[in-house]
Amino acid sequence: MLTIKNLHVSVEGKDILRGVDLVVRPGEVHAVMGPNGSGKTTLAYTLMGHPKYQLKVKNSKLKISLDGKSLLNNTPDERARLGLFLAFQYPVAVDGVSVEHFLRRTSSVINGKSSMSALQFRRLLSKEAEKLGVREELLRRSLNEDFSGGEKKRLEILQMAILRPKYAILDETDSGLDIDALQVVARGVNRVLRDQKNMGVILITHYQRILRFIKPQVVHVMIRGRIAESGGRNLADKLEKQGYKTYE
Ligand SMILES: Nc1ncnc2c1ncn2[C@@H]1O[C@H](COP(=O)(O)OP(=O)(O)OP(=O)(O)O)[C@@H](O)[C@H]1O
Ligand SMILES: [Mg+2]
Repeated sequence: MLTIKNLHVSVEGKDILRGVDLVVRPGEVHAVMGPNGSGKTTLAYTLMGHPKYQLKVKNSKLKISLDGKSLLNNTPDERARLGLFLAFQYPVAVDGVSVEHFLRRTSSVINGKSSMSALQFRRLLSKEAEKLGVREELLRRSLNEDFSGGEKKRLEILQMAILRPKYAILDETDSGLDIDALQVVARGVNRVLRDQKNMGVILITHYQRILRFIKPQVVHVMIRGRIAESGGRNLADKLEKQGYKTYE
């Protein structure tokens, strides 16, 4: 279970998250929606342990824990090894490191798959890449360097499919995808969810269209750093029709 309690976060002295509580149980998909600047990405980075995001610990019952173990003192790489994964809203490019090399390295560090031979890994990678419509040529190029927006997003999901985390945070993985790519990516996520029934997902999105393919059990609305409302799938439809003005 991924538990977040009483989370207050500031960046460069500015309060951004102002008391977030969220519990994601194994196998659950939670959608987080909300206007630009409401704190969704801040929540994602904070969960991963980005050092820029300052937690308010004093006088609070702050909690971020994974399967009962507090993550508050863990670095981002330790959190990744414990099974937390973040698909970035804006994936970064790394010149000179190929996609294949990067994925092999992260999977050996995070999953301890160093026992896998280079050939075995390449087979696994090819299989997963094919399912996600990622061309072989892309795997040999520098990570995200001059990749199209959609190619970067597919690659994030390829990484998730290889790493098989316990909890995945997908930050606007659907934005910038064309209609076909959206379905390919959604199928990819669903496939990992089917193979790994215990994976919990926090799906940050602006659009209800991806929720037609990846069905959340719970939809949350984040407004100015707080979860203003939580509900079922129909909450996403309501937001699409009404926007966020009712929360003003
Ligand atoms: N490193 C930073 N320095 C200064 N301000 C920041 C920083 N990171 C986030 N913020 C501010 O925090 C607020 C929340 O940003 P965040 O990226 O979490 O929003 P979001 O809900 O993900 O928005 P979007 O839907 O546009 O992606 C914004 O006002 C943003 O400018
Ligand atoms: Mg964001």
